[in-house]
Formats: sequence, structure tokens, C-alpha cells
Amino acid sequence: MPADTPSTAAASPFDAHESAVRSYCRSFPALFTRAKGSRLHAADGRSWIDFFAGAGTLNYGHNPEFIKRRLVEYLEADGISHALDLHTAAKAAFIETFVARVLAPRGLDYRLQFTGPTGANAVEAALKLARRVTGRSGVFAFTGAYHGLSLGALAVTANRAKRAAAGTALGDATFVPYPDGRLPAEQTLAWIERLFSDGHSGVELPAAVIVETVQAEGGIHVAPADWLAALQALCRRHGVLLIVDDIQVGCWRSGGFFSFERAGLAPDLVVLSKAIGGYGLPMSLLLIRPELDRWAPGEHTGTFRGNQLAFVAGAAALEHATDTGLEAEVRRKGERVAARLARIAALDTRLAVRGLGLVWGLDCSALGDGFAERLSARCFELGLLAETAGRRDTVLKFLPPLTTPDDELDAGFDLVARALGDLLRG
Ligand SMILES: Cc1ncc(COP(=O)(O)O)c(C=O)c1O
Repeated sequence: MPADTPSTAAASPFDAHESAVRSYCRSFPALFTRAKGSRLHAADGRSWIDFFAGAGTLNYGHNPEFIKRRLVEYLEADGISHALDLHTAAKAAFIETFVARVLAPRGLDYRLQFTGPTGANAVEAALKLARRVTGRSGVFAFTGAYHGLSLGALAVTANRAKRAAAGTALGDATFVPYPDGRLPAEQTLAWIERLFSDGHSGVELPAAVIVETVQAEGGIHVAPADWLAALQALCRRHGVLLIVDDIQVGCWRSGGFFSFERAGLAPDLVVLSKAIGGYGLPMSLLLIRPELDRWAPGEHTGTFRGNQLAFVAGAAALEHATDTGLEAEVRRKGERVAARLARIAALDTRLAVRGLGLVWGLDCSALGDGFAERLSARCFELGLLAETAGRRDTVLKFLPPLTTPDDELDAGFDLVARALGDLLRG
């Protein structure tokens, strides 16, 4: 270890100086120094298979060569690094690549709004625009939803503890049940229909419904395709906009580039972030049906809307993904993971498995609170990063980079099986 490398000992700069708000580092205590593909390395020589992938940001793995080369060339050529929303060659190339490789082949037509670099900022923009276009202020969101922690996004995020941290009123959101198995899916739709159409429902017709097609933070709940299609139809019938939050499960994670392709949706607004910048570089996008693009210039701005390196990386990622058939690979690997997880779940009848593509969850709720967190901790000791999600953190969540080779996927799930065996034996 170089002499000036901080240690993980108690006197680390993190413990001494960083805010108590830090979180993931508490679950995964190590001083990370290097990463490549699906592997993370620490200063003390330990390494891990990464099934966390920056919470779904590193879909193409750590430091993928095909993106790194482009970035290095761009930096060497003194390409623009920051430009607000000025026209740049890097941005033009990203837009053209996104249109040609993502939108056009799917017959989708959207305006691209580059928002501030967090997912929450794209959600804020979507909510503002929906309100502006419809002239209504309410938004329907779902139980279990996660859309970010800035005030507008937090208002449509379901977690009570996160909402309480706002310290102020979070208004204009009505939560309705997500089809997560607690109620029959058709009942959840009937309830929304009733709230929309019953003049005595006590709820105003909303500007929009915001939905995750797979609730990831919510514990890996996959909305049925026919439910999603019926939700879109219901929204259209009532002139309510449909916003799909594809921040975590878009960018090929659930199979197609967009997670809603399996349901044949054409949402009014779509939010993307996390993996769209390709290399873990911050970029967020709001996709807007052209006739809804009613912004006045500068109404939703932000200094960091023009991360040029993210444009370069994002374009390289889309080229590589479409040239190499990543979509089919995600589907194939998804089947492999489903089979592995079915074998793991067979270790104890109280376990349940949910997911699709390369977003999966092992539901340990029937084994009691704290079990999934202990499982995550044991996986970490054995050499695997996997975080918990869902109510009371009872689900172990798997988001491997989409480029993870089969043998590394298998090795990662072998560690899950070992960790689970250790815990079940007590
Ligand atoms: C579905 C979804 N929406 C919104 C967000 C918020 O994104 P950010 O943390 O970049 O603000 C997240 C983050 O995990 C997310 O998973």
C-alpha cells in the first residue's frame, strides 16, 4: 500500500470528517482502490465480485475498455469538459446515437431534456412538466415506490423514514397499491379507475401517474406486462400522463433498452439516469413526447446538465451494446440467473425469488428482519457485493454488470449459496 493511502482503521478520514449521512460504506467497509469488469479491489488486497454495480449505474462493468478508450482520446484531444447546454460535438454525437440506436428502432419519438445530473432531478423535471401541461397538481404514485430524495421526488417516494427526513410537508401525491402480490393486480387497477372516475372519490384527477415497471429499491417487484398496458390505457382514457421511471431498471437491465418494452408501452414521459452515462459518469435524461414539450427556455435548468464526458461515454456504450447484441445477452443471462436462484431458494422453503433480465431479488422476509442484512454481510466476507432492498431491508438484491461473464455470474451465486448455507446452519 502506498505510504499516503488512508487506512480503514478507526482514524480514517471518513470516520473523522465525513457526515453521518453516509450509508453504503457502512454495509461494505473497505478502502476500495481499483475496479475492472465485475471485480472490485481494496487496498488490503481483498477483492469482490460486484453484484451491486453502483446501484445499477455500472451496467457495462467497471472501466470497460470500449468506453475508456473513447474517454482517453477525448481528454487527450482537449475536448470540452463542461458546457452547460451549449451545443457541442460530444452532445450532438450522443443525441444522434441515442435517436438512431434506441428511439428509431423502437418506433419511439421523444424530445430529449438533459436535466441536472441526478435521477431525482429528472424526476423533478417530469413532475413539473406534467403539472404544467395538464394544469393539475396531483400525482399518483405507488406503495413501495422510490423516485429520489429531493422534495418533489420524495413526495412520490413511499418510504416513511425517508419522507420523515424532509422535515416539511410533501404534498400533491396520492399513493395507490402496486401489484406486488399483496392485492390481486386487477384490484389495484380497479381502485385507480375508481379514484379517477368517481366524482366522490375525494381525490382530484391527477396530472400524472409515475410508475416503476419493476420496483427495485422497493424489493424487486415486477409489474405484470398486462397490468402495465392496462394502466397506460386507463391513463389515456382519463387524460392523465404516464411517467415511467426507468432510472434503475432501464438501459438494458431488464432485457430491452427500456423496461416497458415487454408491455409495449409508449409512455408520455420517461426518466433515465444511472447507466445512461455509460461509465458511471453523471447524466440524467427526461424523454418527452414532442407535443408535451411545453417548456419555456430555461424554466428547468442546472449548471451540470452538460457533462461532456458522460455524452462521450454514453454514446460509446450505446454503440457497443447495439453492435454486440447486449439485449439478447441480458435475456440469456437472465434465464441462467433465474435457474441458479431457483436452486438457491430451494435451500429453504421460506425464501422467494423475483426478477427478470439482470435485476433479481431473494426475498428473505419470512426468515425475519435482519436476515437479509446478515446475508449481505456474509456475502461481503466471502467476496461478493450485494445490497439489501425492500421493506425493512428484507430482500437481497442482485444487479450484476450486464457484461458479467457466465463463470463470474456462477461464481457470485455460488457465494450467495455458501453464505446462505452458513446462516441457515446458524
Ligand atoms: C427508480 C429510481 N428513481 C429515482 C432514483 C433517484 O436517483 P438519484 O439517486 O440519482 O437521485 C433512483 C435511485 O436509486 C431510482 O432507483
